[in-house]
Amino acid sequence: MIPLFSLALVFFAISLQTFVDAQGIQSRITAYANTGDNITLPCHLDGQSNLFGNRIKWTKLEDDATETDVIISMGFHKKTYGNFLNRVYLLEADENDATLVITDLDVTDYGTYRCEIINGMNDKIIEVNLKVDGVVFPYSPRLGRYNLNFHDAEATCREQDAVVASFEQLYGAWRNGLDWCNAGWLNDGTVQYPITNPRQPCGGVQISAGLRNYGRQHRSNSRFDVFCFTAGLRGRFYYLIQPHKLSYDEAVAACKNNGAEIAKVGHIYAAWKLLGYDRCDAGWLADGSVRYPISRPRKNCSPTEAAVRFIGFPDKKQKLYGVYCYKPQQ
Ligand SMILES: *[C@@H]1O[C@H](CO)[C@@H](O)[C@H](O)[C@H]1NC(C)=O
Repeated sequence: MIPLFSLALVFFAISLQTFVDAQGIQSRITAYANTGDNITLPCHLDGQSNLFGNRIKWTKLEDDATETDVIISMGFHKKTYGNFLNRVYLLEADENDATLVITDLDVTDYGTYRCEIINGMNDKIIEVNLKVDGVVFPYSPRLGRYNLNFHDAEATCREQDAVVASFEQLYGAWRNGLDWCNAGWLNDGTVQYPITNPRQPCGGVQISAGLRNYGRQHRSNSRFDVFCFTAGLRGRFYYLIQPHKLSYDEAVAACKNNGAEIAKVGHIYAAWKLLGYDRCDAGWLADGSVRYPISRPRKNCSPTEAAVRFIGFPDKKQKLYGVYCYKPQQ
């Protein structure tokens, strides 16, 4: 039996910079992980001090500047909160150790975590930025572009097995070449879009490449598209070989008969980006759209770029397409 901690070290690269900054935060750390992993977020009291009797508090700082409690520990008393209930614990490798373990990492777990060790004398604060490997994709619903207020946007990403992307995630996607000319919500309530190739209809040619920012918009009254973020697949994504083309209802039934479900948009993006999935067959997805994933551009199959190609939201009765299925891990 390999101890959990060494397993974790196999999966995660942790870069450590130690300094004390203006907010009294004594070090900032970045950790990378995949969904389903267990991750350890390090926090130690240095020197001879003993943590026993100190209050240890881990909180998560959300993108909208709110904080949520993760775990609070005081001696033998430990309490976990909300989404972290029964999913986190303190490693307590030695008497100076306040390291946090998050098990079964979820796509919503990325972000900044703060460890506070409070003993009244020399309080210690450490921040750890947890990045979850994944992919950002733009989404507009069947109704067409600019139909989602912020709350619709959150629900829409959730339906695609994703969450609303953060600024940092969209920025990362832009640096990796994402160019999209429709503005979409981010999880901080701002509306932005990434342009790598400046052009007239997309903010003009005067402004250099980058994220075009409409700023914070009214969460109920403003309507845009959305950028969703989905992480690694927890199951198997595949094109279902069928003797003939299917209507939408037949597609749903075909996956079901195969012991799976019709795949979501988040699944096709995750398979394409993280696994290099490539298939030149247009297939139905759960939202009623038809798409196909190309990672090796070639004649008649997205010749100019690797992309998830979008055919549209066709009439669901048309028997013109195949289907992509998804079988969640048992
Ligand atoms: C994560 O930790 C849990 C509980 O400690 C364990 O059951 C599970 O196998 C671990 N998962 C991985 C991927 O190491």
